[in-house]
Amino acid sequence: MKPIVYLVRALPGQDLEPLRPFVELRGGASTAPPRDRLVEEARGATILAPTYIDRVDGPLLDALPTVRHVASYGVGVNHLDLEACRARKVLVTNTPGVLTDATADHAIALLLAAARRVAEGDRVVRAGGWRAVDPAFMLGTEVTGKTLGIVGFGRIGQAVARRALGFRMRVLYASPRAADLPGAQQAPLDALLTDSDFVSFHCPLTSQTENVLSRERIARMKRGVIVVNTARGGVVDDAALADALATGQVAAAGLDVFRDEPSVPAAYLGLENVVLTPHLGSGTRETRAAMARLVLEDVLCFAKGEPPRHPVA
Ligand code: DGY
Repeated sequence: MKPIVYLVRALPGQDLEPLRPFVELRGGASTAPPRDRLVEEARGATILAPTYIDRVDGPLLDALPTVRHVASYGVGVNHLDLEACRARKVLVTNTPGVLTDATADHAIALLLAAARRVAEGDRVVRAGGWRAVDPAFMLGTEVTGKTLGIVGFGRIGQAVARRALGFRMRVLYASPRAADLPGAQQAPLDALLTDSDFVSFHCPLTSQTENVLSRERIARMKRGVIVVNTARGGVVDDAALADALATGQVAAAGLDVFRDEPSVPAAYLGLENVVLTPHLGSGTRETRAAMARLVLEDVLCFAKGEPPRHPVA
């Protein structure tokens, strides 16, 4: 009997046919079913393939005791209870490496959009609000020569740094480990936050990084700082950031990720100085297909009894 793979959602851009000789595919609708239906549909599955947003925890694994492999579509693992997986000897794999450039590009897109008021300017033009030529109209903030603080300096943080150095920005980074990237300078988190004109988050969401951008820290940042988040919504205290955007303590923000996606805190929606995107960091056709390819590779390895290619430590 072939092992059953249950896809919590459809994985774009990857032909799953090569899997069929080895596994039976189930699920894969465009939206994830509610948990009770998921448990019903996935019953008997050996491999569960959630995406970066689908929670896998002890109660779910207990309801699906045949699951031996969680093949997660995405690099972040905060949606997975790794301890629960370990305790039940369930293998966990993810999709590292393939979304680095796409996510770094999106962080820079948000940084520039926030600094140069791109989305706001588009709204003004469409609403007929550009009525006269005025050199003082809708001025933004220069990025060249400014200091960018990068919180979290793994693959994506470093890719953002390389792009920012191309803009002749000064780059600081906060990370437990020093990185070998000429031009980027390691700094303690609090010093980075008080010294930066722009701050971009690239750390995983853990108990240590939850609300790392707190109200107290925002108050100590430079007035007029610009904040970018393509990591996870939970690293930012939303109420505090929205208040700071309203008072100008934070001049602008570019946010791609939210605590309870797809819901976005209402406080952001009425603010002109925040650019909001729907978790598009890895959202290119090429990258989303590459992520699916990595899931497929690990599912095949598991089905053939080979070691996984992208195990989560
Ligand atoms: C991930 O893979 O964790 C990303 O957030 C997807 O964009």
